[in-house]
Amino acid sequence: MTRTPFVAGNWKMFKTVGEAEMFISGLLPRVSSSEGVDVAICVPFTDLQAMVDSTRGSRVQVFAQNMHEAATGAFTGEVSAPMLADLDVHGVVLGHSERRQYFNETDRALAEKVPAALEAGLVPILCVGETEAEREEGAMERKLRHQVQEDLENVPVERLHEVVIAYEPIWAIGTGKVATPEQAQEACAFVRALVAGIDADAAGAIRIQYGGSVKADNAAELLALPDIDGALVGGASLEPASFAAIVEAARA
Ligand code: 13P
Repeated sequence: MTRTPFVAGNWKMFKTVGEAEMFISGLLPRVSSSEGVDVAICVPFTDLQAMVDSTRGSRVQVFAQNMHEAATGAFTGEVSAPMLADLDVHGVVLGHSERRQYFNETDRALAEKVPAALEAGLVPILCVGETEAEREEGAMERKLRHQVQEDLENVPVERLHEVVIAYEPIWAIGTGKVATPEQAQEACAFVRALVAGIDADAAGAIRIQYGGSVKADNAAELLALPDIDGALVGGASLEPASFAAIVEAARA
């Protein structure tokens, strides 16, 4: 099973429209010949329209960072999957640990959000991962099993392979403390085995990214691992040169 590598930059709450335009004009020439790698930027809602317009016809896809599970409704301040799809947004990050930690994102809601994204034609990047304490207590597998099983429970089996899963150990996010290749491979293989528990064909096709302090100088080693099909990059995705270097590492 060949899986196309997928490198996505999660900007988090960074970049005004002007800053986003500066970034994209630096990125597009650097990745224009990156055949064989899917490339995405996951941007704040306010940057979506400008980035969709500026990347049209390029190899860079535009993702949102969150959405509500309902298509419409009295949910002040929220944005739905059909609204994102209507802007020609390609996909959406769901269940990022920062949303789980600071905004009370629950697995219950994610079990609705993941199929709602697919239904609207968006590619979901579902984030999962353990805290440092959970890893030290030997609770990593229990946490990952719970997240993967509950968050994917309403996805039709025939669409499971369209989901992207990002394994992001929380202790590696924004800390400069990257998982060792052994830790990253072990966890991503475990996530794939969990998917195999739902459907073996989907497990062979589904793409699993590693996220957590991915930089230009550690990306090649992580991306070469058998169960790692790409990266979800935070800090190093904010500069065109460092992000493009990670995309380049995925081609090797
Ligand atoms: P850093 O790459 O800054 O550690 O962030 C990882 C992340 O949270 C991507 O979603």
